[in-house]
Amino acid sequence: MNTKEIDETHDFWNRVADDWDTQVGDQGDSNRILNSDPVLWKFAGDVSGLNVLDAGCGTGYLSRKLLSRGATVIGVDFSEKMIDVARSKGSDIDFRVDSCCSLATIDDGSLDMVISNYVLMDIPDLDGTMSAFNRVLREGGVAIVIFSHPCFPQGGATHSNDRTISQYNWSFPYFKRQKRIDPPWGHFTSEFIWFHRPLSDYWKAFNLSGFDVVDLEEPRITEDRYHLAENERKLNNSLNRPYSIAFKLRKKLKTS
Ligand SMILES: C[S@@+](CC[C@H](N)C(=O)[O-])C[C@H]1O[C@@H](n2cnc3c(N)ncnc32)[C@H](O)[C@@H]1O
Repeated sequence: MNTKEIDETHDFWNRVADDWDTQVGDQGDSNRILNSDPVLWKFAGDVSGLNVLDAGCGTGYLSRKLLSRGATVIGVDFSEKMIDVARSKGSDIDFRVDSCCSLATIDDGSLDMVISNYVLMDIPDLDGTMSAFNRVLREGGVAIVIFSHPCFPQGGATHSNDRTISQYNWSFPYFKRQKRIDPPWGHFTSEFIWFHRPLSDYWKAFNLSGFDVVDLEEPRITEDRYHLAENERKLNNSLNRPYSIAFKLRKKLKTS
């Protein structure tokens, strides 16, 4: 594992924790509300009574939603600042400072479900992270991983006036794994650090770490949520732009 990269991303997320809370608040941002959260809940099903890990929980909007649906929730994030904000909102959630690459505070086989919501593209060590997710799940347990779509970089994308045509600007080779630095967007003032890898790397890491892929979606708005889009631009973006990709994984059963 490249500890310099982990340290850099750790410092970055500590720096932006308050801004992140402004971004997602208690309900998630518009991309989550319009596009990916419905897929997440479809993949998760009824979580009542389940032991669920929100891996890379940030300021905890999803942890709180899981709790309100009856799950017993652990939220981990390696950013102390994120966990401070999450804890300050007060609830029965066990928020812990821990790294997704090791999940050192979590026992083997102790969880029914791991959900990682927009985290994997921020982690340099994908294989270590997926192995840790696998280790903490019981046999047959489910992991739901949603991350920025690696085939459609949002930075530098342009759209026709009616937003039915999108053009994605590849300023680097798609197949080359690499650290990327994006300029600040929205209300953020800090550059964003993330790690590009081709889509096939994800599938291979899921398989190698002991998961079967049981479902796959490229989240987009569905008609029943059109009314939630704040304006025409957000509706058209949600109809036309693949922001994320969502996998439902199941821990393979041991063969004796
Ligand atoms: C894009 S934010 C998403 C936060 C949250 N899941 C949400 O949807 O609001 C990515 C989060 O992953 C956390 N993170 C990044 N690398 C991590 C690691 N190695 N271990 C634990 N958390 C990590 C960051 O601190 C940040 O809170």
